Amino acid sequence: MSNVNLQSGPSGRDNNSQDGAGADAGARNSRTANARTGRPLLEVRNVSKSLGGKLILDDVSLSLDKGQLKVLIGPSGSGKSTLLQCVHFLTPPDKGEVVLDGQSAREMGQKNICAFRQEIGMIFQDFNLFDHLTARDNVAIALRKVKGQPKTAARVRAMDELERVGLADKAGLYPAQLSGGQKQRVSIARAMAMEPKLMLLDEPTSALDPELIGEVLNVIANLARGGMTMLMVTHQIGFAQHLTNEILFMEEGRIIERGTPGDLLGENSGSRTALFCSRLTELTGR
Ligand SMILES: Nc1ncnc2c1ncn2[C@@H]1O[C@H](COP(=O)(O)OP(=O)(O)O)[C@@H](O)[C@H]1O
Ligand SMILES: [Mg+2]
Repeated sequence: MSNVNLQSGPSGRDNNSQDGAGADAGARNSRTANARTGRPLLEVRNVSKSLGGKLILDDVSLSLDKGQLKVLIGPSGSGKSTLLQCVHFLTPPDKGEVVLDGQSAREMGQKNICAFRQEIGMIFQDFNLFDHLTARDNVAIALRKVKGQPKTAARVRAMDELERVGLADKAGLYPAQLSGGQKQRVSIARAMAMEPKLMLLDEPTSALDPELIGEVLNVIANLARGGMTMLMVTHQIGFAQHLTNEILFMEEGRIIERGTPGDLLGENSGSRTALFCSRLTELTGR
């Protein structure tokens, strides 16, 4: 497993901390309920999706409370990325509902779906940065184009977000001048600048060299500690089990197991999740 410092972020700051305490899944548990409304922040209800004539998602349901991080794992091709795309409504489900903070994506209609999507930050394994823009402008451009912020305000905010991911000193560099880990931290800064209610992370470290994984995981741990609500596809289960209180295991388009890391990964649990993770460990040595 990567060596991850769960106590402080790369910048040594904890801007988002709500309680000042070192966060772990247990600490976040105590503040997971949406105190204002009592309802989950995200509800995915009975989502099904076919692509190319094949059923890819088969009646998938899950929910996330505010401030909760859930981890989605499963074999390649099991539908994890498709599920995140359905939650984002980039790929609208054929059946079922996605409700974010009480708003149903389907009910928002084609005209307002952009507003729904803006509430959700997406992190992909391949960063999706603009090569011709500096780190700072990669973060600022979304604030200008999507939020309509003036140039100066957007650049100031971009610096704050880069500082939060420990990259203030790299603000003027272009993606080609950054390591993979740094690029992923810029893409996280860009997503956070939009102040999303929910972050979806699709294997955020799987394109990275092993020695760069830890710095990105540290940033994600910091977001979790700050109370960001996240659904993360990752195979870094050794890391993720310290941040989550529910693992969802997906196979052939269905969530076939769900439970706490203790329940699913405990010795002799006999779970599919444990078997899958032990094979991963054998393959990667992590
Ligand atoms: N646009 C598409 N058309 C047809 N099949 C697709 C499309 N996108 C994904 N699939 C198929 O859906 C299945 C699930 O893919 P994906 O959600 O990417 O899985 P995972 O992220 O778990 O590896 C795979 O069998 C994949 O080939
Ligand atoms: Mg995938």
